[in-house]
Amino acid sequence: MDPKVFVREKITELEQAIGDKTALVALSGGVDSSAVAVLAHKAIDNQLHALFIDDGLMREGEGEQIKAIFAGLGIEVEIIDKSADFFAALRGQVDPEEKRKAFRDTFYKTLGEAVCNSGCSFMLQGTIAADIIETQKGIKTQHNILEQIGIDPAEYGLQILEPLKDLFKPDVRLVAAELGLPEEIHQRMPFPGPGLATRCIGECTPERIAKVRAAHVIVEEELAPFRPFQCMAVLLSDRATGLKEGGRLLGEIMVVRAVESEDAMTAAPVEVPWAVLRRIQERICTEIEGVNRVLYDLTPKPPATIEYI
Ligand code: XMP
Repeated sequence: MDPKVFVREKITELEQAIGDKTALVALSGGVDSSAVAVLAHKAIDNQLHALFIDDGLMREGEGEQIKAIFAGLGIEVEIIDKSADFFAALRGQVDPEEKRKAFRDTFYKTLGEAVCNSGCSFMLQGTIAADIIETQKGIKTQHNILEQIGIDPAEYGLQILEPLKDLFKPDVRLVAAELGLPEEIHQRMPFPGPGLATRCIGECTPERIAKVRAAHVIVEEELAPFRPFQCMAVLLSDRATGLKEGGRLLGEIMVVRAVESEDAMTAAPVEVPWAVLRRIQERICTEIEGVNRVLYDLTPKPPATIEYI
């Protein structure tokens, strides 16, 4: 794939598909949706409406950061807070696939409403090849796959365009760089659509998600020098016995995962030095209320997947 040729072709395709109508892109801040937003902006300029849906499951400060980066590219991003809807949909859900489906349903309902409210005719989406393959293989319900598994987007009132759906992550990064996105976006770690919900085993309450978010900041900070393909913190649903002031205290268990990978289809754990792992453990147990155990996940993909749900 030649990124210059790809960009030129996709701009023409989008111009032709959208014509004089308008399109909405839901940005997550990841490289995929960011590349789609810039492609579309180049194709249809101010006929594009860029939206950041705050689902309550994003990383620390993500919405504001994305708004600022895109403002620098001349693209205004509207932020809407829909976190209450997502937490309501996830309430009481503990089964991994049910959580993914609850997320997907809320995601598309929210988008359907946003498209309707904005009067846009199309929705642009950053689906890439790996998302489609993993969903079709029945491994997990990716948040952004409908048509490929026989669900008509019209059920959610949507007409969807997916300009990146034949690319894998390394090519998406090349396209994003070609489009002039800053390195902090085109080299950004993949982050799944269902966000921190994929890293919270058991029920996703705002309190539990806040713990995972705080742990994620620590893991990203400490592992940045190793430039992992992905790294994360995952909150387990059981509790472990611990000690505090001479007495027993049942605490939460946080898993740290860091993997190397090319395209997310296979992955290997990063060989993080012991001293760094110890520092992560100390910081998580000290900075995050109620956590008294930190584990490092040694499992490659396969047999595990990268995310926990
Ligand atoms: P797994 O966990 O299947 O993940 O090994 C492979 C890659 O896909 C990301 N991922 C997702 N990305 N929507 C996305 O956009 C999703 O629902 C989703 N689930 C997993 C994951 O972070 C990894 O990079």
